[in-house]
Amino acid sequence: MPAYIPPWQREPARRPAPRRAPGPVRERRPPSAPLRGLAAPASPGHAGQAEAPADTSWGGANARWYDSAVGEEGTHYQDRLIFPRVLRLLNLQAREQFLDLACGQGAFSRLAAQTGAKITGVDLSGDLIRAAWERSKGSPLNFLVADARDLSKTLAGKSFDAIACILAVQNIDPLEPVFTSAAASLKPRGRFVMVMSHPSFRIPRQSEWGWDDAKKLSYRRVDRYLLPLKIPIQTHPGANPGLTTWTFHRPLQAYVSALSQAGLAIDALEEWTSERISQPGPRAKAENRAREEFPLFLALRAIKRS
Ligand SMILES: C[S@@+](CC[C@H](N)C(=O)[O-])C[C@H]1O[C@@H](n2cnc3c(N)ncnc32)[C@H](O)[C@@H]1O
Repeated sequence: MPAYIPPWQREPARRPAPRRAPGPVRERRPPSAPLRGLAAPASPGHAGQAEAPADTSWGGANARWYDSAVGEEGTHYQDRLIFPRVLRLLNLQAREQFLDLACGQGAFSRLAAQTGAKITGVDLSGDLIRAAWERSKGSPLNFLVADARDLSKTLAGKSFDAIACILAVQNIDPLEPVFTSAAASLKPRGRFVMVMSHPSFRIPRQSEWGWDDAKKLSYRRVDRYLLPLKIPIQTHPGANPGLTTWTFHRPLQAYVSALSQAGLAIDALEEWTSERISQPGPRAKAENRAREEFPLFLALRAIKRS
């Protein structure tokens, strides 16, 4: 079976990009070349071995691939859909302290810096943190290697007004320490925003589109939902099918319950649909309607209880 590629890593078809939602004005920079100088895998097969622990799978070739896929401003979905909406949910103010948790190569950190907030990004991958520094030269951002499940040493004594965790919580297991660490790093009433592939409708290898010929409708089929799953994700389709990272499927109740136990009270939940549209054809209308019914991403905002 070919490895699963998450929809947000695929290029959307045909729809003209909508204008960016109101928010901080950004200067568009020319796309930069893929980052040079990232460390080679520690050993052949460092990334992508079936038994590789989740927390080492974002180094080496996977880091190089991810850095060039995200580029300066994010993938299509990050740039057009996710980042502007996360900024809205965060409502960052100048001089506030902001933590980008599992920041990757820092595309969102650089955007968030334009609000005037003071930015720290942390990620477990040293290669992606190196990429973040490379891409942020001359900007007053701070990037550190740290495990989102234990920030106590790296961020000792620091507290943040807001934290975001974008497209990363499903790459980390277990979940509970991520939220307790985030809560411990927040000031009272601090905001925690996270975005993930929608756990109810977008379960790698366990959900897909189908076509009902009798009803002439496109439907979403979900084969498994409640039981947690650990699933390999192909990172570099075509070039190297052996490179994978891990995703951890959990039902929605796992996120709500872990947030609550960490002292984080949800005050916003949003479900964001894909902007793709189908090629013209007999099924296009039904497919487009279905795409508007079943969200691609889930965003949650939670406030630290004081
Ligand atoms: C899909 S990437 C998202 C990165 C970034 N937030 C973005 O939007 O581009 C997932 C990230 O989670 C990071 N990650 C995985 N496990 C982690 C952990 N335990 N602590 C911190 N970061 C982790 C990976 O290194 C990777 O950068």
